[in-house]
Amino acid sequence: MRFQIIVMGCQMNEADAAWLEQSLVARGWESVAEADAQVIFVLTCSVRDKPEQKVYSLLGRLALGLPEEGFVAVGGCVAQQVGEELWQRFPCVRLVFGTDGTALVPDAVERLTRHPGSRLCLVDFAPAYPEREAAFPWRVPARVYVSIMQGCDNWCAYCIVPLTRGRQKSRSAAAVVEECRQLVARGAREITLLGQNVNSFGQDSSGDGTPFAELLRQVAAIPGLLRLRFTTSHPKDIAPEVVAAFAELPNLCSHLHLPVQSGANAVLSAMGRQYTRERYLEIVAALRKARPDIALTTDLIVGFPGETEADFAATLRLVEEVGFAGGFSFKYSNRPGTRAASLPFPVSEEVKSRRLAELQALLAQATCRDLEAQVGRQLEVLVEGPSKTQCGPQRWWMGRDGGNRIVHFPAAAPDLTGRLVRVQVQEATKHALRGEMMGEPW
Ligand code: SAH
Ligand code: SF4
Ligand code: F3S
Repeated sequence: MRFQIIVMGCQMNEADAAWLEQSLVARGWESVAEADAQVIFVLTCSVRDKPEQKVYSLLGRLALGLPEEGFVAVGGCVAQQVGEELWQRFPCVRLVFGTDGTALVPDAVERLTRHPGSRLCLVDFAPAYPEREAAFPWRVPARVYVSIMQGCDNWCAYCIVPLTRGRQKSRSAAAVVEECRQLVARGAREITLLGQNVNSFGQDSSGDGTPFAELLRQVAAIPGLLRLRFTTSHPKDIAPEVVAAFAELPNLCSHLHLPVQSGANAVLSAMGRQYTRERYLEIVAALRKARPDIALTTDLIVGFPGETEADFAATLRLVEEVGFAGGFSFKYSNRPGTRAASLPFPVSEEVKSRRLAELQALLAQATCRDLEAQVGRQLEVLVEGPSKTQCGPQRWWMGRDGGNRIVHFPAAAPDLTGRLVRVQVQEATKHALRGEMMGEPW
């Protein structure tokens, strides 16, 4: 069978897609271009209205190009939220699977191909993290994701994730460490541990009680693992031991994505985030003490119901005060079934757009400032592949430093993908750095 996977949304979907691809290939399926595929998987996102609408237009388009025996399998957060209704709207869809159903998908699609005309819907939540069959290829990429948990129990007022990913369910520390060991043995050099709220890893009925800082120590100790990252962190759950890990573990990268969402205490409280602006700044100070060169990035929402001009100004001030290396910002989007959906005092679309533009300009300045501060430094860069922004006749490569900054550099080597190189930074562009390779890759 020939298949293609289209991924939308966050790294959790990317990690699910990587496993699904490996598992299908291990069963003899072939990954091909969309136009040649008999089965097209779509991993969807419903965190805001826009990505959800994108799913529906994509499904409409896919229906037109499928071969006669072909079908679409829809997974991820829109699938979990909408369920069987997708069949009615899109007859080309024969499999709908939620996040806990992913482990069952390879068996399910094989069954569907044997029974033309049949359909399946796998949207039940499991009581514990559904472990997946190991499907490691002989060699894996240098950068990989490892899912350590599923779901979220935080119920931030604006967020649909607890509804689409279910209750928090951690894997056992032993299962995570064993998967990381297998990946490093097959060529992984950088691992990102993934979950919606990694700082509360282990602390749920599915987990074994191992604190997240202890998991970090165990994974960091795997011989051959050069870089470790994790995402996403909720500020309220970041333990002092996790902050200390930045001082103690040299292979833990100097980057933390720590979503703050707003700089105004009234908005943070209405969002149910359970920390204040002051507490957030304390965490930032502690992180900088543990690892002075740490690059901090964040997520911000503008136009949450009731957000005043003074609240928004507090957000702008916080961005300045922290000195983020970058950030993602979004207009608040009403999601069905969330607490915020029934709050009074919505902010008009016009005001949201203006605030977003202002915040994005400030974040772009922050990124420029951070990139310019790197000029003249030597950075350790893990090469991801050939660079798309070629300049001149030389071959250019692209990778990331520990702070997650994009770095481009020329080198005549036939293939540097997956290698670590030292780059002397010569220039900062709007979104990236350019420099020169020093010494030999390793
Ligand atoms: N678990 C992560 C992120 C989940 S979603 C965390 O807790 O940080 C990624 C980002 O999308 C969030 O950080 C938030 O900034 C944004 N987001 C989530 N729901 C949203 C909504 N209804 N409207 C606008 N942005 C939203
Ligand atoms: Fe959503 Fe909040 Fe959970 Fe993040 S912590 S996934 S924003 S409910
Ligand atoms: Fe989107 Fe679901 Fe991730 S809503 S952000 S794909 S958890």
